[in-house]
Amino acid sequence: MKDWWKNSVVYQIYPRSFKDSNGDGFGDLRGIIEKLPYLQNLGIDVIWLSPVFDSPQDDNGYDISDYRKIYAGFGSNEDMDELIQKAHEHGIKIVLDLVVNHTSDEHAWFVESRKSKDSKYSDYYIWKDPKADGSEPNNWGSSFCGSAWEYDEERGQYYLHFYSRKQPDLNWENETVRKEIYDLMKFWMDKGADGWRMDVIASISKDQSFPDYPKTDGRKYYTGKYHSNGPRLHEFIHEMNREVLSKYDCMTVGEAPGSTPEVARLFTDPEREELNMIFTFEHMNIDRIPGSVNRKWALKPFDLRELKRVMTQWQNKLYGKGWNALYFENHDQPRVISRWGNDTTYREECAKAYATVLHGMQGTPYVYQGEEIGMTNVQFPLDEYEDIEVRNAYQDLVIKNKTISEDDFRKAVWNKSRDNARVPMQWDDSTNAGFSSAPASDLYIAMDPDKDRPTAKKEMAAPDSLYHEVKKLIRIRQSHKALQSRGKITFVYAEKNAYPLAYIREAGDEKILVIINAAAEAKTFACDAEPKEAIYNFGAAAEAKNGKITVPAQSAGFYRI
Ligand code: NOJ
Repeated sequence: MKDWWKNSVVYQIYPRSFKDSNGDGFGDLRGIIEKLPYLQNLGIDVIWLSPVFDSPQDDNGYDISDYRKIYAGFGSNEDMDELIQKAHEHGIKIVLDLVVNHTSDEHAWFVESRKSKDSKYSDYYIWKDPKADGSEPNNWGSSFCGSAWEYDEERGQYYLHFYSRKQPDLNWENETVRKEIYDLMKFWMDKGADGWRMDVIASISKDQSFPDYPKTDGRKYYTGKYHSNGPRLHEFIHEMNREVLSKYDCMTVGEAPGSTPEVARLFTDPEREELNMIFTFEHMNIDRIPGSVNRKWALKPFDLRELKRVMTQWQNKLYGKGWNALYFENHDQPRVISRWGNDTTYREECAKAYATVLHGMQGTPYVYQGEEIGMTNVQFPLDEYEDIEVRNAYQDLVIKNKTISEDDFRKAVWNKSRDNARVPMQWDDSTNAGFSSAPASDLYIAMDPDKDRPTAKKEMAAPDSLYHEVKKLIRIRQSHKALQSRGKITFVYAEKNAYPLAYIREAGDEKILVIINAAAEAKTFACDAEPKEAIYNFGAAAEAKNGKITVPAQSAGFYRI
């Protein structure tokens, strides 16, 4: 079936933190091979692997220096061949991470490009002369703070980098660059890779007039509309589809910060021949103060109604026109139960509630490693964070510009930092929770120190655990047409309250009401539908009476109506 990705569940692996097979404190490909039976047992269909290619690891592999070679810390090219083959034997497809908005500054193309304007690789990157006073060509900022431009002595020009200065942006206007990218995609697809997650793909086309952002406040550098959805974006993606994707039976998901549902339709309407789905950021941004200089570190209290509003819009606007990628967690986001829920008293219930919301909606669900066992955020001292995003933001916002106090920054880091999701996967109660046999001091990042931390082993041993719920949800989705691709979705609003969250999925004569109440008390709402048999539920069952449904506290379910 060509649209297999519509009925698939994807599991994201962040390889360095998943399973270390050789005791060096760093997860690797052979560790993933070892855990294939675990993944098969969970019932997932596809693995998305965060980047495993050669890299100086300035941004944990999102800075690639050789696209055709596996980074030695992860293993060898042969290990990768074996992983693809064994995953296929387990009925699991492998999707790789395509990081082609930028490369590492140690990539041979950049090494040559910076040497001179006459190099064959001169235009592989985006170079600009300084302004008359020697300053940056414009006021574009880097997502990791400071200017997006770095002056290079060797070449006597600035190069553009939307991320760290070790991640120079490729020049997609150059046809040869595009061809190089298509070739490297074919290299891995010919080896059996089943598709691509495309890193910040919405940023590849830049406005060639390189306009300044309007100075709306005292800031020196800005990030915003010029950083994504540029003028030739869809032309480039369509070309990539024609040159590569259309020739393979593969799936694609583009990371698309700054996209609206309307933009998502441009990417994912099958008639336009671009991508299968994109990751939106709209729901991920509901807990930040819009426009703040402190960006994601400017916390705004979570409001479930806002999450419902955004999800409803995406579900409704893409229905029949495109396709959603459903996610609450990944390697860039904190653990959802710590961020928007309860990760103590109701840890399991809250995680089950989020899983129910996710797996009931229309789109392809993504489970991030550890989400299926309810892993939680961590709270490290500020100087122990690994992530370049935290380290740069601390220097820029706390130390240099003093726009946020150290205390508020720490709170925000505990709530939002990417390292929350990057601490190692917890397998069992052995050394380092079974992640690695290395001494704790050799781990590339510390474990969650919580002595009651959940582990896969504990979760698998308890019959009604979160792990088993997720497994059930995956299976149920596969066996109910209302929950699959054609299943229409209608949100049922219980006044304007937060809980319950309720929607109806339907296809043909099958109708399923999904209801979630993660609140500490029961909720009653008006609803014409009458829940009959529960296809799946946790907590006490919902009850209908006189056109109203009462949903017990800490419960959720899929009910036939
Ligand atoms: C998005 C990736 O998910 C993130 O981890 C990375 O830092 C940036 N893109 C830059 O590649």
